[in-house]
Amino acid sequence: MMPVRALAARALARIALRGESLREVSARHVGKIAAARDRALFTALLNEGSRWWLRFDPALDDLLKQPLRERQPEVHALLVLGLVQREVMGIAEYAVVASSVEAVRALQRPRFAGLVNAVLRRWLRERSERLQSLDAVSPTQHAFPSWLIDAVGRDWPDLSAAVLAASNRLAPLMLRVNRRRQTREGLQARLAQTGVASGPHPWLADALILDRNRDITALPGFVEGHFSVQDGAAQIAVDLLSCASGMRVLDACAAPGGKSCHLLERNDLHLLAVEREASRAERIRENQHRLGLPAVVCLGDATAPASWWDGEAFDRILLDAPCSASGVIRRHPDIKLHRRERDLEALVAVQHKLLAALWPLLVPGGRLLYATCSILRAENQHVVQTFVDTHVDAVVEHFSLPAGRSAGPGWQLLPGEADLDGMYYARLSKRTD
Ligand SMILES: C[S@@+](CC[C@H](N)C(=O)[O-])C[C@H]1O[C@@H](n2cnc3c(N)ncnc32)[C@H](O)[C@@H]1O
Repeated sequence: MMPVRALAARALARIALRGESLREVSARHVGKIAAARDRALFTALLNEGSRWWLRFDPALDDLLKQPLRERQPEVHALLVLGLVQREVMGIAEYAVVASSVEAVRALQRPRFAGLVNAVLRRWLRERSERLQSLDAVSPTQHAFPSWLIDAVGRDWPDLSAAVLAASNRLAPLMLRVNRRRQTREGLQARLAQTGVASGPHPWLADALILDRNRDITALPGFVEGHFSVQDGAAQIAVDLLSCASGMRVLDACAAPGGKSCHLLERNDLHLLAVEREASRAERIRENQHRLGLPAVVCLGDATAPASWWDGEAFDRILLDAPCSASGVIRRHPDIKLHRRERDLEALVAVQHKLLAALWPLLVPGGRLLYATCSILRAENQHVVQTFVDTHVDAVVEHFSLPAGRSAGPGWQLLPGEADLDGMYYARLSKRTD
């Protein structure tokens, strides 16, 4: 089998230079790696390689006479990984150089072995000055694209450095206990019996934080549907929507179904989960099946309810809108590589469209929870403010959370606050008069 670093370089080149998603590339490769230790190293290399690409990719421009990015993308990615292993992952210098040279041969590029060796050794000799010059410029200091640094700075001027730093930290692995099958204490005890330490999140009733990242499918109770993986920020939705058994509930942008499942774990609901993409809708069904939950999944476009709505109004609507995902970069670092500033305009237009299309489906006195995993006001406060300004029957309900902040309508959690992902929530109720 190919050495892990060679596989990782091949995969990282696809993510960083061909625009493929980290999750998909990783899923395609990881199953082919036999040993658990190698799988863990591969995953760490892909995550850290994506997270720090925008710092170490430009560093190579100065180290190479002729750029390799286009001509030899896998060799280029291998060199980026070399710097990431030394500077981020703390791997010993000799191991970085030797394993990279071995990997370039395994990639069938033996004529680049000398170059890989020379470039990495030069980096190691000159690293302190080179790191200083990377730190002198914002994009290479933070490994973020400049448009996103500017956007975060505009929206959170006093907090932007902390937001960028938190977005670059590895997120803890968090579980959501399925109350229908297990208690949190019960799951914690069961995990402890197999040597897995975990602790509750202080203000989330169903969340358990694991001591470190693990293969969750191998944990006791996974197959039996005792838990799911879900960041705590997403677990807040269930409390904010506050459903009661028997209610008619719409989850309008539902896949992969994390929040739908949580709602169903808490209450017996008539829940309709709408999702536009067929492959993603299938993931809702799989999750509901594993967790033993009933529901109706409907393939449809939430901006066009006429094609799937039966005409009976909903007591609760969850609109977890498609967004920039700028709040979850710590879990999906490839967002920094793939999201473009120009995407924002289209996303905001869809967010407005979804709210306007779904509002008529809510009963008077009902509640709609608007949620995004974005930290940008354009997708959050501005969308909600425009909506309430143009809909006289819409009222923003006030609530507060132990972390995050109210800045305009709704509540913004920033990445890392209470050890959670960045997430925005606004709760809208419909007037009865
Ligand atoms: C943020 S994700 C939802 C996550 C989900 N609520 C959960 O907790 O697992 C947004 C989802 O909306 C879907 N989507 C985007 N536009 C849509 C539309 N017009 N109608 C229905 N689904 C849509 C996307 O395919 C994506 O699966």
